[in-house]
Amino acid sequence: MKLYHAPASPFVRKVMILLHEAGASDRVTLVPALGNPLDPGTLPIDRNPLGKIPALERPDGPTLYDSRVITRYLDETLHARLYPPAPRLWDTLVIEATGDGIAEAAVLMRYEMHVRPEPTRSSDWAGAQWQKIDRALTALEERWMSHLSGPLDMGQIAVACALGYLDFRHAERNWRETRPALAEWLASFSARPAMQLTAPT
Ligand code: BEZ
Repeated sequence: MKLYHAPASPFVRKVMILLHEAGASDRVTLVPALGNPLDPGTLPIDRNPLGKIPALERPDGPTLYDSRVITRYLDETLHARLYPPAPRLWDTLVIEATGDGIAEAAVLMRYEMHVRPEPTRSSDWAGAQWQKIDRALTALEERWMSHLSGPLDMGQIAVACALGYLDFRHAERNWRETRPALAEWLASFSARPAMQLTAPT
Protein backbone atom coordinates (compact mmCIF):
# COMPACT_ATOMS: atom_id res chain seq x y z
CA MET A 1 0.00 0.00 0.00
CA LYS A 2 1.14 3.57 -0.67
CA LEU A 3 0.60 6.23 1.98
CA TYR A 4 0.86 9.86 0.84
CA HIS A 5 2.80 11.38 3.70
CA ALA A 6 4.29 14.55 5.21
CA PRO A 7 6.16 14.33 8.52
CA ALA A 8 4.58 17.55 9.87
CA SER A 9 0.95 16.49 9.31
CA PRO A 10 -0.93 15.55 12.52
CA PHE A 11 -3.40 13.55 10.38
CA VAL A 12 -0.67 11.50 8.72
CA ARG A 13 0.82 10.97 12.19
CA LYS A 14 -2.44 9.32 13.39
CA VAL A 15 -2.13 6.74 10.62
CA MET A 16 1.58 6.17 11.28
CA ILE A 17 0.99 5.65 15.01
CA LEU A 18 -1.75 3.10 14.28
CA LEU A 19 0.65 1.25 11.94
CA HIS A 20 3.46 1.23 14.53
CA GLU A 21 1.12 0.16 17.34
CA ALA A 22 -0.14 -2.69 15.13
CA GLY A 23 3.45 -3.70 14.22
CA ALA A 24 2.59 -3.09 10.56
CA SER A 25 4.63 -0.06 9.49
CA ASP A 26 6.27 -2.24 6.83
CA ARG A 27 2.88 -2.68 5.12
CA VAL A 28 3.03 0.83 3.60
CA THR A 29 5.42 2.64 1.29
CA LEU A 30 5.60 6.32 2.18
CA VAL A 31 5.17 8.75 -0.72
CA PRO A 32 6.26 12.30 0.17
CA ALA A 33 3.49 14.82 -0.57
CA LEU A 34 3.74 18.53 0.08
CA GLY A 35 1.48 21.41 -0.81
CA ASN A 36 -1.05 23.85 0.58
CA PRO A 37 -4.44 25.34 -0.37
CA LEU A 38 -2.78 27.89 -2.66
CA ASP A 39 -0.36 25.48 -4.32
CA PRO A 40 -1.14 21.76 -4.50
CA GLY A 41 2.57 21.00 -5.12
CA THR A 42 2.98 17.22 -4.95
CA LEU A 43 -0.31 16.56 -3.15
CA PRO A 44 -2.11 13.57 -4.75
CA ILE A 45 -4.99 15.49 -6.35
CA ASP A 46 -5.47 12.63 -8.83
CA ARG A 47 -6.04 10.28 -5.86
CA ASN A 48 -7.89 12.66 -3.54
CA PRO A 49 -9.76 15.46 -5.33
CA LEU A 50 -9.66 17.44 -2.08
CA GLY A 51 -5.87 17.47 -2.35
CA LYS A 52 -5.36 16.42 1.25
CA ILE A 53 -3.14 13.92 3.00
CA PRO A 54 -3.11 11.27 4.28
CA ALA A 55 -4.38 9.27 1.33
CA LEU A 56 -3.94 5.50 1.17
CA GLU A 57 -3.70 3.52 -2.07
CA ARG A 58 -4.85 0.00 -1.24
CA PRO A 59 -5.03 -3.29 -3.13
CA ASP A 60 -8.75 -3.92 -2.66
CA GLY A 61 -10.47 -0.72 -3.83
CA PRO A 62 -10.21 3.00 -4.51
CA THR A 63 -7.76 5.23 -2.64
CA LEU A 64 -8.96 6.05 0.86
CA TYR A 65 -9.06 9.45 2.55
CA ASP A 66 -9.42 11.16 5.11
CA SER A 67 -7.52 10.05 8.23
CA ARG A 68 -10.62 8.70 10.00
CA VAL A 69 -11.56 6.56 7.01
CA ILE A 70 -8.00 5.27 6.72
CA THR A 71 -7.71 4.46 10.43
CA ARG A 72 -11.03 2.58 10.39
CA TYR A 73 -9.88 0.59 7.34
CA LEU A 74 -6.46 -0.25 8.82
CA ASP A 75 -7.94 -1.04 12.22
CA GLU A 76 -10.26 -3.58 10.63
CA THR A 77 -7.80 -5.13 8.18
CA LEU A 78 -4.88 -5.30 10.67
CA HIS A 79 -7.08 -6.30 13.64
CA ALA A 80 -5.51 -3.45 15.60
CA ARG A 81 -8.54 -3.09 17.93
CA LEU A 82 -8.09 0.67 18.41
CA TYR A 83 -11.85 1.21 18.10
CA PRO A 84 -13.55 -0.53 21.04
CA PRO A 85 -17.04 -2.00 20.85
CA ALA A 86 -20.05 0.22 21.61
CA PRO A 87 -20.94 1.87 23.91
CA ARG A 88 -17.30 2.87 24.64
CA LEU A 89 -16.90 3.39 20.86
CA TRP A 90 -19.06 6.53 20.96
CA ASP A 91 -16.72 8.17 23.47
CA THR A 92 -13.68 7.12 21.42
CA LEU A 93 -15.19 8.67 18.28
CA VAL A 94 -16.09 11.95 20.00
CA ILE A 95 -12.58 12.21 21.45
CA GLU A 96 -11.07 11.42 18.03
CA ALA A 97 -13.27 14.12 16.46
CA THR A 98 -12.19 16.57 19.18
CA GLY A 99 -8.49 15.84 18.53
CA ASP A 100 -8.98 16.11 14.77
CA GLY A 101 -10.90 19.39 15.20
CA ILE A 102 -8.04 20.85 17.23
CA ALA A 103 -5.53 19.76 14.60
CA GLU A 104 -7.66 21.13 11.75
CA ALA A 105 -8.04 24.55 13.37
CA ALA A 106 -4.31 24.60 14.18
CA VAL A 107 -3.37 23.79 10.57
CA LEU A 108 -5.76 26.51 9.30
CA MET A 109 -4.07 29.01 11.63
CA ARG A 110 -0.71 27.98 10.21
CA TYR A 111 -1.94 28.47 6.63
CA GLU A 112 -3.51 31.82 7.51
CA MET A 113 -0.38 33.28 9.07
CA HIS A 114 2.29 31.65 6.86
CA VAL A 115 0.78 30.71 3.48
CA ARG A 116 -1.82 33.41 2.74
CA PRO A 117 -0.23 36.52 1.17
CA GLU A 118 0.71 38.92 3.95
CA PRO A 119 -1.68 41.83 3.15
CA THR A 120 -4.72 39.52 3.29
CA ARG A 121 -3.85 37.73 6.56
CA SER A 122 -6.37 38.11 9.37
CA SER A 123 -5.19 37.75 12.94
CA ASP A 124 -8.87 37.97 14.02
CA TRP A 125 -9.67 34.91 11.93
CA ALA A 126 -6.64 33.05 13.31
CA GLY A 127 -7.72 34.11 16.81
CA ALA A 128 -11.19 32.67 16.19
CA GLN A 129 -9.58 29.34 15.25
CA TRP A 130 -7.64 29.45 18.52
CA GLN A 131 -10.91 30.01 20.43
CA LYS A 132 -12.17 26.71 19.00
CA ILE A 133 -8.97 24.98 20.10
CA ASP A 134 -9.17 26.56 23.53
CA ARG A 135 -12.74 25.31 24.08
CA ALA A 136 -11.84 21.83 22.88
CA LEU A 137 -8.81 21.67 25.21
CA THR A 138 -11.03 22.67 28.11
CA ALA A 139 -13.52 19.93 27.18
CA LEU A 140 -10.72 17.35 27.18
CA GLU A 141 -9.35 18.57 30.53
CA GLU A 142 -12.77 18.70 32.22
CA ARG A 143 -14.60 15.76 30.66
CA TRP A 144 -12.33 13.18 29.09
CA MET A 145 -9.24 12.60 31.26
CA SER A 146 -10.49 9.30 32.61
CA HIS A 147 -11.07 7.94 29.08
CA LEU A 148 -7.67 9.25 27.95
CA SER A 149 -6.05 7.30 30.78
CA GLY A 150 -7.83 4.05 29.82
CA PRO A 151 -6.91 1.35 27.26
CA LEU A 152 -5.20 2.64 24.11
CA ASP A 153 -7.59 3.74 21.36
CA MET A 154 -7.80 6.07 18.36
CA GLY A 155 -9.28 8.86 20.49
CA GLN A 156 -6.10 9.03 22.53
CA ILE A 157 -3.92 8.85 19.42
CA ALA A 158 -5.83 11.72 17.73
CA VAL A 159 -5.55 13.93 20.83
CA ALA A 160 -1.82 13.18 21.20
CA CYS A 161 -1.23 14.09 17.51
CA ALA A 162 -3.20 17.33 17.89
CA LEU A 163 -1.29 18.36 21.04
CA GLY A 164 2.00 17.42 19.38
CA TYR A 165 1.10 19.70 16.48
CA LEU A 166 0.27 22.57 18.87
CA ASP A 167 3.73 22.15 20.39
CA PHE A 168 5.30 21.99 16.91
CA ARG A 169 3.60 25.03 15.32
CA HIS A 170 1.92 27.04 18.11
CA ALA A 171 4.19 26.58 21.14
CA GLU A 172 3.89 30.28 21.97
CA ARG A 173 0.19 29.77 22.86
CA ASN A 174 1.36 27.76 25.88
CA TRP A 175 -1.70 25.44 26.01
CA ARG A 176 -0.32 23.59 29.07
CA GLU A 177 -0.63 26.62 31.36
CA THR A 178 -4.28 25.98 32.24
CA ARG A 179 -4.43 22.24 31.35
CA PRO A 180 -2.29 20.43 33.98
CA ALA A 181 -4.02 17.05 33.64
CA LEU A 182 -3.77 17.03 29.84
CA ALA A 183 -0.12 18.14 30.04
CA GLU A 184 0.72 15.30 32.42
CA TRP A 185 -1.16 12.80 30.27
CA LEU A 186 0.73 13.88 27.11
CA ALA A 187 4.09 13.62 28.88
CA SER A 188 3.34 10.02 29.78
CA PHE A 189 1.74 9.11 26.40
CA SER A 190 4.73 10.58 24.54
CA ALA A 191 6.99 7.86 25.97
CA ARG A 192 5.35 5.31 23.64
CA PRO A 193 7.80 4.23 20.91
CA ALA A 194 5.11 4.93 18.27
CA MET A 195 4.96 8.56 19.42
CA GLN A 196 8.73 8.95 19.39
CA LEU A 197 9.07 7.38 15.95
CA THR A 198 6.54 9.83 14.48
CA ALA A 199 7.45 13.18 16.10
CA PRO A 200 6.77 16.00 13.59
CA THR A 201 9.71 17.46 11.68
C1 BEZ B 1 2.78 21.94 8.47
O1 BEZ B 1 3.89 22.08 7.95
O2 BEZ B 1 2.43 22.54 9.48
C2 BEZ B 1 1.84 20.94 7.83
C3 BEZ B 1 2.30 20.14 6.78
C4 BEZ B 1 1.44 19.22 6.19
C5 BEZ B 1 0.12 19.11 6.64
C6 BEZ B 1 -0.32 19.89 7.69
C7 BEZ B 1 0.54 20.82 8.28
